[in-house]
Amino acid sequence: MISSDEIRKKYIDFFKSKGHAEIAGASLIPENDPTVLFTTAGMHPLVPVLMGDRHPAGKRLVNFQKCIRTGDIEDVGDAWHLTFFEMLGNWSLGDYFKKEAIEMSFEFLTGKKWLNIPVERLSVTCFAGDADAPKDEEAAKVWEACPIPKKRIHFLSKKDNWWGPAGQTGPCGPDTEMFYHVVGVQEKNTADFVKFCKEEKFCEIWNDVFMQYNKTAEGKYAKAAQQNVDTGFGLERTTAVLNGLDNAYETDLLKSTFDKVKKLAGKKELNGHNLKSARIITDHLRAATFILGDEKGIAPSNVGQGYVLRRLIRKSIRHAHLLGIEGNFCSAVAETAVKRFEKIYPELKKNSAKIYSELEKEEERFSRALETGTELLEKKLGELAKQKKKQLDCTTAFDLYQSYGFPLEMIAEICREKGFEVDNEGFGKCLIEHQQVSRKGAEQTFKGGLADAKEQTTRLHTATHLLHAALMEIVNKNIIQKGSNITAERLRFDFNSDERLNDAQLRKVEDWVNKAIQSCANVNEEVLSVDEAKKKGAHGIFDSKYGEKVKVYTVVDGKKVYSKEICGGPHVKTVKGLGHFKILKQESVAAGVKRIKAVLE
Ligand code: ALA
Repeated sequence: MISSDEIRKKYIDFFKSKGHAEIAGASLIPENDPTVLFTTAGMHPLVPVLMGDRHPAGKRLVNFQKCIRTGDIEDVGDAWHLTFFEMLGNWSLGDYFKKEAIEMSFEFLTGKKWLNIPVERLSVTCFAGDADAPKDEEAAKVWEACPIPKKRIHFLSKKDNWWGPAGQTGPCGPDTEMFYHVVGVQEKNTADFVKFCKEEKFCEIWNDVFMQYNKTAEGKYAKAAQQNVDTGFGLERTTAVLNGLDNAYETDLLKSTFDKVKKLAGKKELNGHNLKSARIITDHLRAATFILGDEKGIAPSNVGQGYVLRRLIRKSIRHAHLLGIEGNFCSAVAETAVKRFEKIYPELKKNSAKIYSELEKEEERFSRALETGTELLEKKLGELAKQKKKQLDCTTAFDLYQSYGFPLEMIAEICREKGFEVDNEGFGKCLIEHQQVSRKGAEQTFKGGLADAKEQTTRLHTATHLLHAALMEIVNKNIIQKGSNITAERLRFDFNSDERLNDAQLRKVEDWVNKAIQSCANVNEEVLSVDEAKKKGAHGIFDSKYGEKVKVYTVVDGKKVYSKEICGGPHVKTVKGLGHFKILKQESVAAGVKRIKAVLE
């Protein structure tokens, strides 16, 4: 037996022994990134450094990262699909490339001190080549030398062996993937290999991406200025297969939560629909616990991340009803996840009261509506069945959505279970008519890729520092950032203040920022220890989990320092050309917290 905690620790220790600096994982809610709602991979918070910015910890990094992926959410309930998962990763930023990356992966997987996997249980895949990029013989040669026998090295197309970019544009490249033989069979050829993967006899556990290209807005793959390695190692899967388990729910990462759900349902053994329901509750409430427990307070709502969270909780409530669980149960399930992970993710314990109370509030809001709404829907489906109709009309669907708070996919799920479908097109029209935020709207993010968005958001990010400095100068020197969110169009800054700023103050803040912009100040970047940074008067909140170095950005014109802040970046090099700063509005977002939205014109 090997525990997931041991695997996580071994991974970090191994890469530290190879000169990598351990960096803290990021929040689940991406910072200054309008392209996605959640952090989906370890590389995601690192896009600026993958594009060439300097990382204060150096060129070799390692960490573990909490991730959320909702792309395959309909598949949750099977053995492997998870909404929340942990990704272990190591990076080379313009340092080592294919040879060392592969050799290190091989040593970690097979080394006696590390995972000690017998070489016979491993197969690998490499990129087969196409019009955009050549066949990756280089990677295959390194594997052969490791040695992995040639007949267990397979070449597959872009669909399988290419990763990125995370948005429409940005760093990407061929990858090589490592597979564990869950069952002791050996493939004779690539067709066999593909078949064994489908039959879940082989399971992918690790992916090394060679970021050699930069996908441009025209869809071309240009040679990247800096060659990086980005890897992702799936903790849940690896823990399962190394312990001879055939699903994620029996691993020590999910088992206590899954057992709690079974206990609440009063069932020792589950199968069929019941098993699926219990898995959905386990997965969704574990994900909800991490979202609610994140440093960036998200609560259930009808937009953006808040709506994803609401759907996860509401879907859990429905499946609990199907399992016959009565009364409030969400916080009892969440508690198992908090207990399981509080040592690794201390924010869960810190925010546990909020996790439980938000779950309970959402249960109060939805449980009764679920019952009456389900009755209404079942009655309607009964009538339709009599009329030999197979489609639920959009008026009923919209009513369930609008008045009962049923997420559309839940309506579709119930319909599917009873052999019906929903009139999606009509539903969409209803939504627009009622000017509601549709699921699509809520999840719609900036159209360009990370790289396109980067330039606009970088400018607004520097303007955010100036806004913060102006608030400290004009309103109160103790103003601290409570939140920041930047899209390609605008900045949004939350800060501590009991009072609303009056119009004269707002005008003064605007003028201060515009004066700074007109000064043509430079933005200087320094890498310092946290203590040095604080000594130099830099403000900013930074928990130095690993005593790592931080970046400090100073907006300075000669002797005049406008702003000095600890921050990951990126920023513009000079404020010249940022344009005219304009505050659009001020709002109250929580007790003692005000929000300013502003643009650069
Ligand atoms: N970013 C790569 C992945 O998510 C490693 O698979």
